[in-house]
Amino acid sequence: MNTPHVVLAITGASGSIYGIRLAQELLKSGARLTILLSRSGGAVLKSECGLQWEGDEATVTRRMREHFSAGADRLSHYAADNLFAPIASGSSAPDSFVVCPCSMGSLGRIAAGISGNLIERTADVMLKERRPFVLVPRETPLHDIHLENLLKLSRMGVRIVPAMPAFYHGPRSLEDLVDFVVGKVLDSMGMEHRLFTRWGDMKREW
Ligand SMILES: Cc1cc2nc3c(=O)[nH]c(=O)nc-3n(C[C@H](O)[C@H](O)[C@H](O)COP(=O)(O)O)c2cc1C
Repeated sequence: MNTPHVVLAITGASGSIYGIRLAQELLKSGARLTILLSRSGGAVLKSECGLQWEGDEATVTRRMREHFSAGADRLSHYAADNLFAPIASGSSAPDSFVVCPCSMGSLGRIAAGISGNLIERTADVMLKERRPFVLVPRETPLHDIHLENLLKLSRMGVRIVPAMPAFYHGPRSLEDLVDFVVGKVLDSMGMEHRLFTRWGDMKREW
């Protein structure tokens, strides 16, 4: 079987740590990974995770590969304004696409079919090609436009996995809470993981 090609877009919602953790797990799974980063995604990533993934496409690619200790055969990056990237065409659509975290801005533009940058265009490609697409929205509270956009995409087959950690698996740390959300994203992509203990497999202490 060919190595699956997964594209991960990190947009400007709080919770860039979810995207970073997801990238680690996807690389660990053996997938070929392409990471896209919106301009706001880069700013939030710097503010919340201290990663300076800003600059031209080559610089950001190098920093990503250094961060994940991944070679060119495993990890790629295209600038958000690079609409010449292969994934901008349905003829080179990836096997799956995940937007994690997804801002309400990107959500709205994807739901409206704007295709104004590579993240939105890749989303459009996945929708038109009916390929696996997972979206991890992060905002609270949600207003009617957010909810309508989520419903619209859900009805088109997009898996909506809100960044909503649970507490039934006995989390002890921030990492446990992050891993729960990332594990649910991997579940939605049909990928195996051991990021949290499933209900029924737990040793209860009460
Ligand atoms: C520190 C920080 C945190 C933010 N958190 C969120 C958030 O959780 N959800 C959201 O929808 N927007 C959030 N925003 C606003 C988005 O970054 C903003 O709407 C941006 O235009 C989104 O652009 P993008 O979708 O191209 O990444 C945040 C902005 C900053 C600076």
